[in-house]
Amino acid sequence: MCGIAGCICGKGGNAVPDVYEGLKRLEYRGYDSAGIAAVTDDGVTVVKKRGVVEKLFPHIGGMKGEIAIAHTRWATHGKPSDTNAHPHVSGGICLVHNGIIENYCELKEKLSREGETFLSETDSEVIAVLFKRNYSGSLTAALIKTVKELKGSYALMVICKEEHKIAVAKYKSPLIIGYGKDRIYCASDEPALAGKCSEISVLEDGDFALLSEDGAEIFDSRLRPVARKKQPNRAVSAELSLGGYPHYMLKELHEVPASVKNTFSAFSGVESEIVKTFSGVKRIIVTGCGTAYHAGLVGKRYFESFAGIPTDAETAGEFRYSEPVITDGTVVVAISQSGETADTVEAARLALSRGAKVVAVTNSPYSALTRLACVTVPVAAGAEICVAATKSYTGQIAALYLTALAVAGETADGERAARLADMPALCAKTIENVNVSSLAHMCAKSKGVYFMGRDLDYAVAREGSLKLKEVSYIPSEGYPAGELKHGTLALISPKTVSVVIITDKALAEKSVNAVEQVLARKGKAAVITNVDDVEDDLKGRAEIVRLPRCDKFLAPLAAAVAVQELAYRTAVKLRRNPDKPRNLAKSVTVE
Ligand code: AGP
Repeated sequence: MCGIAGCICGKGGNAVPDVYEGLKRLEYRGYDSAGIAAVTDDGVTVVKKRGVVEKLFPHIGGMKGEIAIAHTRWATHGKPSDTNAHPHVSGGICLVHNGIIENYCELKEKLSREGETFLSETDSEVIAVLFKRNYSGSLTAALIKTVKELKGSYALMVICKEEHKIAVAKYKSPLIIGYGKDRIYCASDEPALAGKCSEISVLEDGDFALLSEDGAEIFDSRLRPVARKKQPNRAVSAELSLGGYPHYMLKELHEVPASVKNTFSAFSGVESEIVKTFSGVKRIIVTGCGTAYHAGLVGKRYFESFAGIPTDAETAGEFRYSEPVITDGTVVVAISQSGETADTVEAARLALSRGAKVVAVTNSPYSALTRLACVTVPVAAGAEICVAATKSYTGQIAALYLTALAVAGETADGERAARLADMPALCAKTIENVNVSSLAHMCAKSKGVYFMGRDLDYAVAREGSLKLKEVSYIPSEGYPAGELKHGTLALISPKTVSVVIITDKALAEKSVNAVEQVLARKGKAAVITNVDDVEDDLKGRAEIVRLPRCDKFLAPLAAAVAVQELAYRTAVKLRRNPDKPRNLAKSVTVE
């Protein structure tokens, strides 16, 4: 949510193309508006426009400056518009901000009483105005004074024409510094710096930094100079390209097999630490948001079935405010692709403060969640650009499967783990053969799509529903198949499609009942299944999407591919851009 990028180079250099390219790579964090400010010979020049980053292109041709900062916005306070776009300017001060300033109303009122005027509806402009008032010749001094007045979260970059520097501050929103050949960078995330620098430092909460062409001076919250470890930048330009696919969603769906395979390989590096962390565990709480939470629903089943440990799954936003009972022996497993989702990070912090051990399951080894956790189970999905999660979800399921086996005392070379080793090939086969075209057509014409399943199929039904509504905007719900007759049946009509996922032979008959109930009410029905009898029963009456047969605990991986493909095909039929769903951003670092 909101991406920021900055660059400072030596005499005669031009930082503008670098920050523009950086913004394009950060667009998954928001695409409501974009803007760039550069210190040029004439002072500070600002270009900002509503819409995607590309809209800036015609306006930055002649823009040149040794210092530039840039922003791509996911609107929270104030509608998407040119005026609400960043950078915000006050006096000669230019600022970009990612985060939310919770006390901005009271600050704005106070500043207005004192004669300040505001152009935008944003919380961020208040910081620019405060900064201008606090500035008397030192960017760092003004920044320190300014952030003392702020409540909330921020990653900030500030420039002015008087100083050949970029001042930055970070609190609860991510910020990294990148060390280029002849320039220094700053950005929300590694992809912005792909191909620009091979080493980065991750700033900690409360850090300030002053960037010059020669390097970065970093200070902690008590203003003591600190060194933040230089680490490799894992983002590689080639991996961030579309690679011939029309959309990132489709490309990343095709990377599901690699995600499962690489997550499997990476697990051996943490297996012993996992066993140690879970030793003596009496209760597990799995938490996360959105798709990550849905992976957690699958994980709950693994921990209970393989290891016999009572496990709850709760969305991170609910967990935080539910007064969770954490007793000796509780392990909280926090799942997040980005590792920066505010609710998940705060849930982990709360769990730690109450004495639980926290295990992170994430794609992002430098993230806030990784830094908090006692141990991280790596999800080796690679960079995921599409806002809709695909390969990170299947990677998370693989990571949870292996973690649960380790807790159960089964090693990664055991029989059950070997079944996971077969899954990359099976997922690849599913991607190649699954045919959702006709079902996507039915969904695209429908007024609502209901996903159902029992046990693990229910968990995938929740994810299928989220994916479909996220990228196609069709109203959808995912619920346990047994619940149909307790309410949702009232919504079934010829204009609705019910998709029943059936991958467990033992539960197939019961789930087929749900299909019959839908058909009896003249609803359209489909099954996504690998059970032969289901196909025989329903042929000609319901749409059938066939999956390859596999172990019931691993069927969610193949079924996930089918529901992801269904969401993708439906979105494309409706001419929606699945990579940039309206109103959404990939990494939600505010509450
Ligand atoms: C998934 O398609 C969504 N974009 C969303 O639900 C996402 O999974 C959620 O915001 C959590 O993100 P995280 O995994 O980075 O924490």
